[in-house]
Amino acid sequence: MTTKQQLISESPYKPVLAKITEYVRETHDSFTIKLDWKIHHQPGQFVFCSLPGIGEAPISICSHSDEYIELNIREVGNVTKKLGQLKVGDELLVRGPYGRAYPMRDFEGNNIIIIGGGCGVAPLKGSIEFIEQYRNKFRDVSLFFGFRTPDDTLFRKRMDVWKEKFNMHVSFDKVAEPSKACYDGSQGFVTQKVNELVGDNTNTVVFICGPPIMIEKTSEILLNKGFKEEQIFVSAERLMYCGMGKCGRCMIHGRYTCLDGAVFRYDELKDYKDD
Ligand SMILES: Cc1cc2nc3c(=O)[nH]c(=O)nc-3n(C[C@H](O)[C@H](O)[C@H](O)COP(=O)(O)OP(=O)(O)OC[C@H]3O[C@@H](n4cnc5c(N)ncnc54)[C@H](O)[C@@H]3O)c2cc1C
Ligand code: FES
Repeated sequence: MTTKQQLISESPYKPVLAKITEYVRETHDSFTIKLDWKIHHQPGQFVFCSLPGIGEAPISICSHSDEYIELNIREVGNVTKKLGQLKVGDELLVRGPYGRAYPMRDFEGNNIIIIGGGCGVAPLKGSIEFIEQYRNKFRDVSLFFGFRTPDDTLFRKRMDVWKEKFNMHVSFDKVAEPSKACYDGSQGFVTQKVNELVGDNTNTVVFICGPPIMIEKTSEILLNKGFKEEQIFVSAERLMYCGMGKCGRCMIHGRYTCLDGAVFRYDELKDYKDD
């Protein structure tokens, strides 16, 4: 075991150096990096990335492997814009993993519906890769992705693979030439596709991640179709500083998003909606 790996297993709170081994520009304001960080994690967990003198940001793990991690990052401010300027071979500080994961083992034998909007597709990618690795443990798998325009599509190469393996539907809010730009030729909000195509809720669990309004509308549609709150899991992002239940920055109604989430069962999230 290397010194770096020993540190990780000693404490998930201690930042360690990780090297970028791959860098993919996904859209005009987002990129995906692969790090040589061998860390055991579960789908839905997140890590903190930091650059000395700049700051730290929580980012969801968007892969599923004990050999490396991938992070998809949107350049919105100080830390994320600086991270975007790094290149293959550069190093950054990372700590984690943190947060509650999707309880994937509990869902074995079920149908899975995964619904992602915009950069909310990234935190779901780890669970899709988990299902790919244990495909025979799950029944029908449907993926619904919504992006603003085709230029905002994430993970294009993976999407080409997923469309062969799963029932995949990609929709775009706006498309100049629908027949050329879309994977399945659809234009409109992802919620419309969910409304049209999701039917039977027997032995089915749903994961949703995206902007709060998209999570809300999608959950509403599913509940109206007869899904129970216990069948729906959502990711809730909050501003976070420590990620380990110490600073209280992420606390809402007495619960820490960093410890109790970021993955929540829908009924657990009710208290958070009005905040
Ligand atoms: C559990 C978790 C997982 C996340 N996963 C990802 C991910 O996979 N990819 C990704 O690109 N981003 C992710 N984020 C958001 C990411 O952490 C922030 O965008 C980042 O911290 C911004 O840092 P910055 O220094 O670049 O921007 P700043 O200069 O700090 O902020 C830029 C703007 O973004 C706002 N902002 C910062 N953080 C958040 C937040 N968490 N929620 C809402 N607004 C915020 C600020 O208020 C400000 O308006 C995640 C956040 C959480 C809590
Ligand atoms: S981020 Fe500090 S308590 Fe959750």
